[in-house]
Amino acid sequence: MKAAVLEGTGQSFTVRDVQIADPIGREVLIEVRASGLCHSDLHVASSGAGFPMPALLGHEVAGVVAAVGPEVTEFSPGDHVVASPISSCGHCTGCLTGRPYQCRAPQETQRTPDQAPRISLGGQALTQFIGIGGFAEQVLVHERLVVGVSRDIPFDRAALLGCGVVTGAGAAINSARIRPGDTVAVIGCGGVGLNVIQGAVLAGARRVVAVDLQPAKLGLAKDFGATDAVNPADGDAVDAVKDLTGGGVTHAFEVIGLRRTAMDAVAMLDVGGTAYLIGVHKPGATIEVTPFGDLMGKQKGIRGVAMGSTNLKVDIPFYADLYLQGRFKLDELVSRRISLNEVNDGYELLRGGSVARSVVTTF
Ligand SMILES: NC(=O)c1ccc[n+]([C@@H]2O[C@H](COP(=O)([O-])OP(=O)(O)OC[C@H]3O[C@@H](n4cnc5c(N)ncnc54)[C@H](O)[C@@H]3O)[C@@H](O)[C@H]2O)c1
Ligand SMILES: [Zn+2]
Ligand SMILES: [Zn+2]
Repeated sequence: MKAAVLEGTGQSFTVRDVQIADPIGREVLIEVRASGLCHSDLHVASSGAGFPMPALLGHEVAGVVAAVGPEVTEFSPGDHVVASPISSCGHCTGCLTGRPYQCRAPQETQRTPDQAPRISLGGQALTQFIGIGGFAEQVLVHERLVVGVSRDIPFDRAALLGCGVVTGAGAAINSARIRPGDTVAVIGCGGVGLNVIQGAVLAGARRVVAVDLQPAKLGLAKDFGATDAVNPADGDAVDAVKDLTGGGVTHAFEVIGLRRTAMDAVAMLDVGGTAYLIGVHKPGATIEVTPFGDLMGKQKGIRGVAMGSTNLKVDIPFYADLYLQGRFKLDELVSRRISLNEVNDGYELLRGGSVARSVVTTF
């Protein structure tokens, strides 16, 4: 099959012919119809973060089941599915207490070193980034990372449910448990941040302040339900958010991955508020908070959030239903539809901040 391969850190993606194995055990072979470009792939492609290369990136995927391993019970060929990079074993303390996103043994969904690699190039194994590797004609993944979706939802929109939607809306609804009347700030209104905004709106937030450097993103943020927009280029974002909300917000979400904006998220909280760090920072990066003033004095909290505390088998069909009922925006998230050999251009545009999501729809 064809796949956009990343051979090393800082390099471009090149479309190559790679070998994909037949499904074994609980694996599902999916013919990919749509694959979204999330910023996390770009972090890995540009800085590596210790990730083994060569690799297949892309981790928001929708498609049709082509074949299943002998132990698969949930899926059959022809099913429309979404794959999401939330690996979980199903039997650890995290999984058994309803938190598969805190699984202690996610590696159980991978092949073991003594098994043939799922995907290889000229005999060399390719790493599937966070268990998926979606910039390809097909993906081979464990059934715990797969969920069935309605045939009514178009593939390019369904794909975004796999990461951008669950990460953003899930952070608002599951991780923060926003209550009606709470106030919210979202710093970084890209593919993920826009979903934090619509999750906050669904949860009943009274004020949702969008913060982004790109005027076009602030416009989109308003379309997604933000009540106010702040551009840090016009002045200090912390002061602006505090002014708008009478002293600070109950929940601040950092959705970029920068030290400055992560510290801003803590600074713009009201007494007792919590900051949620969603953006991916460089390994080893640090931020400063004061235990005396911030944590004890103002009773603030800081929480790192991975994948929106999502239970994918429940949450993805939930967002799909809301979309089909006209209560959740997905159409507006798809800025561009591109082909597999345009992944490099797609990431160049994402780096510039001008698009919400590009989605590969032609393979
Ligand atoms: N924690 C998780 O589970 C998880 C999952 C998915 C993505 N992420 C991370 O979330 C972050 C956002 O991902 P995305 O796909 O939405 O990216 P994106 O590139 O679409 O969005 C980033 C937004 O931040 C804005 N921005 C950049 N610098 C800014 C600044 N200094 N001040 C204000 N706004 C600024 C950009 O204009 C853009 O709108 C990335 O770091 C990504 O790796 C984390
Ligand atoms: Zn992602
Ligand atoms: Zn587990």
